[in-house]
Amino acid sequence: MEKAVSKRALGPNRVLGIETSCDDTGVAIYDSEQGLLGHALYSQIKTHQEFGGVVPELAARDHIRKVIPLVDVVLKQANCDRKTITGVAYTSGPGLAGALLAGSAVAKGLAYSWGVPAIGVHHMEGHMLAPMLEENAPEFPFVALLVSGGHTLLAEVKGVGEYKILGQTVDDAVGEAFDKTAKILGLGYPGGPAISKAAEKGDPKRFTFPRPMTDRPGMDFSYSGLKTFALNTVEKELIDQQTVCDIAYAFQDAAVDTLAIKCKRAILHTNSKRLVVAGGVGANIRLREQLRSLTEKMRCELYYPRIEFCTDNGAMIAYAGSQRLHQASPDLSFQVKPRWSLEDLPPV
Ligand code: KG4
Ligand code: ZN
Repeated sequence: MEKAVSKRALGPNRVLGIETSCDDTGVAIYDSEQGLLGHALYSQIKTHQEFGGVVPELAARDHIRKVIPLVDVVLKQANCDRKTITGVAYTSGPGLAGALLAGSAVAKGLAYSWGVPAIGVHHMEGHMLAPMLEENAPEFPFVALLVSGGHTLLAEVKGVGEYKILGQTVDDAVGEAFDKTAKILGLGYPGGPAISKAAEKGDPKRFTFPRPMTDRPGMDFSYSGLKTFALNTVEKELIDQQTVCDIAYAFQDAAVDTLAIKCKRAILHTNSKRLVVAGGVGANIRLREQLRSLTEKMRCELYYPRIEFCTDNGAMIAYAGSQRLHQASPDLSFQVKPRWSLEDLPPV
């Protein structure tokens, strides 16, 4: 069996990671020999809450204000002299262009002034490798379910950079559907945790939502219809607090069930023994319960990052950067990639 991380082949390194792809500023330091040395996160939720969703321009401006103070916090927390940092990793895509530019510019500037290489990291590769930060890290190969605000995909993973997409959403991402449905139900932003909380009080028998694209073969997803189904239900019903909870239950049940059905197909298709779940929706308790029972039945091991590393964070970027530091180019210019397929990444 191939080992998950071949540290010696890549050489020891200590990487500062910077995440700014959306509404969280995350900074961390990962050492290839000692593991995660420190991490800190600044969430912009309060900034965007009054607008009911992320305002890209405000996100970019807030990242600019917060990155450097967070770098100082993490260096102190890790009790680490900046001269021991051997590389700087930053999220170069996919994500909001302005937010990505803010983190990339700071990362390149720091790397230049510290005389170390800078490496641009794919945000979804960061999510996918986040479980490697845990003591019980998965070995390759595995099937990955990546579920976030911008992505919903299943991939066959043979090693770092060896990704084959088995299926992905043809419209909205599952996290986006959680956020939009929460808005329809007046539950606010971010929608995932809000729906999950409301669903706890929901009546499981009151509404049944469809399971999109499960009546045909394949591993693609569609989530825009579920959000519309929620909207139509809201328009038909007299909306009181209980009805909001009942709709939240039915939506979550359908969203999660659909993910589990496609995971089962992916495990059968690849004959995989391991399923890795990452991205913000991976924090959903109902999804965790359902995948636990599925993988137990299929005799498959299930891996997650710890809850705080399911959503955006600097630790996953520092880790992915540590794996790819040897691929860094000395070129000082940089290009952010708001859209970027995982399959375009080179192997390590
Ligand atoms: O990975 P992430 O932090 O950022 C992106 O890369 O998009 O994911 C954020 C998404 C949001 O759509 C949020 O509503 C969803 O993850 N989310 C959840 C939960 N916690 C966060 N969705 C369902 N249940 C949760 N507990
Ligand atoms: Zn993310």
